Amino acid sequence: MRQHLLSDGASELSYEIREIVKKATVIKNLGQEIFWENIGDPIQKHHVLPEWIRAVIADLALQNDTYSYCPSKGILETREFLAERTNALNKVRITQDDICFFNGLGDAIAKVYQYITPTSRVIGPSPAYSTHSSAEAAHASHEPLTYTLDPNNKWYPDLDDLYNKVKYNPNVVGILIINPDNPTGMVYPLDTLKRIVAIAREFNLFLVCDEIYLNITYNGARAYALAEVIEDVPGIAMRGISKELPWPGARCGWMEYYNRDKDADFNRLCQAIDNAKMIEVCSTKLPQLAIPKILGDPRFKIYREETNQKIGKRSRIISDILSTVPELTFNETFGAFYNTIIFRMGALRSNQKIKIQDSRIKTLVEEWTSMEMPLDKRFVYYLLGAKGVCVVPISSFCSELQGFRVTLLEEDEATLIKTFTSIRDGIVEYLGS
Ligand SMILES: Cc1ncc(COP(=O)(O)O)c(C=O)c1O
Repeated sequence: MRQHLLSDGASELSYEIREIVKKATVIKNLGQEIFWENIGDPIQKHHVLPEWIRAVIADLALQNDTYSYCPSKGILETREFLAERTNALNKVRITQDDICFFNGLGDAIAKVYQYITPTSRVIGPSPAYSTHSSAEAAHASHEPLTYTLDPNNKWYPDLDDLYNKVKYNPNVVGILIINPDNPTGMVYPLDTLKRIVAIAREFNLFLVCDEIYLNITYNGARAYALAEVIEDVPGIAMRGISKELPWPGARCGWMEYYNRDKDADFNRLCQAIDNAKMIEVCSTKLPQLAIPKILGDPRFKIYREETNQKIGKRSRIISDILSTVPELTFNETFGAFYNTIIFRMGALRSNQKIKIQDSRIKTLVEEWTSMEMPLDKRFVYYLLGAKGVCVVPISSFCSELQGFRVTLLEEDEATLIKTFTSIRDGIVEYLGS
């Protein structure tokens, strides 16, 4: 008999944001129109990139040199451009050597935890963005280790919970921050970030800060970069263009390493991550070539601000529709483009329903929900079958809360209002049944 094929950590890999698509596709094939609220892809939700951005990319695509490999850590001029932007904050200092490119942050996330000793843990927020929590848990062959984001306090992190978990768990070597946060839309206040840096300093930890939404803030908020607060603590900022450009199909993101010179062990981790990229040769080149041309263009800032304002406006439309339901805990959002809405304790039961007109879809949903599952997932299946709205249950974000995540991305206002009115009507009928 051969040895086991699969590592223990493999069972930690799950991604409900895409899993739910399988169920929605079955329903779609039965003739139900689907409103996709599961994934953070602005292009899928009718966002059109400005023509000047597409022209920059088209021009690069016409140049023969674009088609070769590039250096393993990424194109030198692009890394210099990015290092300069971070140095302009006048806090930490980095060079192009402190930057490494990846095939999207998905690739960067897979690598950052992989080379840490299996018994060492990086504690992250709950609700958790599953790409981080799954990758970290798979590296440790253990369930994710989390600190609480509190829905009753604007989704801010519970710093006492974080402090105690770090203090009493000597295996913790790092803290993950996602700022602005997916799935809650919360933006970390400056003081909170400073306190997390202080915890890292006290316990000799490193920080990982996923900043893929750093420049997506609205409703008066601004997100502070890790580089602005980290001082002398070692840390990694993760940045990308999937959301801010947005160009998710480019598969392009990068890490910035801060204070490598202050911690030899941390420096070795950064070196291992660079080497992991080297054995793959390099990451996608065309988007790297485009970055200085697009992010360095004065039109980009204006375009980003206008796009953020539109996200803010949609956040208020959604708030007007959903915040009136008394059985929900609803928080205003300030960054990224998601909202996580929580059912108050006891609101969900295992016998609630929404009327489903099509008997074939009704049979299917009844079959799916006959299995043992979290109560919010049961609600999500009914909403999908009855209203065709595809959201993600919050129990699949490593959380004991019951709720669901939506996006703030639908650019067609009539569709946005229709979708969120359907969600509200679905909730009211489900809870009242
Ligand atoms: C917080 C966060 N980090 C990383 C990613 C993945 O980004 P990429 O498209 O660069 O792989 C996402 C995608 O939704 C995200 O929400």
